[in-house]
Amino acid sequence: MSLYQEITALEKEALAALGAVESIAGLEEIKNRYTGKKGALTGILKGLKDLSDADKRTLGKQAHSLSTLLEESIASRRRELENREMQNRLLAERFDALRPLRSLSGHLHPLSRIQYEIEDLFTSMGFLIMDGPEVETDANNFTHLNFSADHPARDMQDTFWTTDGFLLRTHTSPVQVRAMQKLKPPFRIIAPGRVYRYEEIDASHEHTFFQVEGMMVDEDISVAHLIHIMKSFLSQLFDREVAVRLRPGYFPFVEPGFELDFSCLICNGQGCRVCKQSGWVESGGSGLVHPEVLRAGGIDPDRFSGFAFGFGLNRLAMMKYGIEDIRHFMQGNLRFLEQF
Ligand code: DAH
Repeated sequence: MSLYQEITALEKEALAALGAVESIAGLEEIKNRYTGKKGALTGILKGLKDLSDADKRTLGKQAHSLSTLLEESIASRRRELENREMQNRLLAERFDALRPLRSLSGHLHPLSRIQYEIEDLFTSMGFLIMDGPEVETDANNFTHLNFSADHPARDMQDTFWTTDGFLLRTHTSPVQVRAMQKLKPPFRIIAPGRVYRYEEIDASHEHTFFQVEGMMVDEDISVAHLIHIMKSFLSQLFDREVAVRLRPGYFPFVEPGFELDFSCLICNGQGCRVCKQSGWVESGGSGLVHPEVLRAGGIDPDRFSGFAFGFGLNRLAMMKYGIEDIRHFMQGNLRFLEQF
């Protein structure tokens, strides 16, 4: 084989190998085989110096142009292979930020659950849902609710004060004041929300808890309306016929005022540990809205009357879901929360 034929064969062979190679490692191997220190083409280039001048000119030109061709072909094949490798990597590592998670099992806190359920029940009875701020004025939390400045009942509810004279509402009753300022009678509202008391905490007392307030104002509202609404509310909430009992109770913003009890759901009124053998569970306060409170809200007490009530949501949730300690609600313990 003449050197010319050798170079030509080498070119064919090298280009075929480059066309077939599928990996960078394989490409390095080819590069070594032809143009490396001991490569076939390198050997030929080194031998050129021993040729005659005429052969040097023609074969030298042929060998050098093959060297350039291989260099360029290797570089371009390298770019192709690198691109393909990158494509494969991108495909393999593809991350779809919008793909839904396989098992995203979030759920509501038991207090939210009971709150939404209560909102649905009262909405179906024509009540509006109202909201008020947790930082309130003394006027809305006390004065407009007929607690006079030195009224001993202010001490019934130990209060967190802010340094600039506001307070954390001790009950949801200030929303009654806001309702009267905003709505014209007749109206009926409920107002669920968070309240605060400066209290020692134990299994049945929290400094932060939830209430649901209710108020209905119309002509000729009586205790009969109150009892009817309470009975249908509690029976629907607990999915069974619940008996309601009113005992006299004092709250400055209602007259007459009542403590509202319902028949114990644990023992069906037979008497058990939860109801302290009485068959009844205390659930909140209620009464007919005091004329002074209506007047402070811009409503004529000679024409309109109303009832109001306030329940502890935690207490209702404890009864409904069988929770024995009020402190569970605020602790964020997953073993508790995951049961709902
Ligand atoms: N706000 C009272 C409390 O937290 C509960 C209450 C009693 C609300 C009587 C009322 C009511 O609307 O009429 O102790």
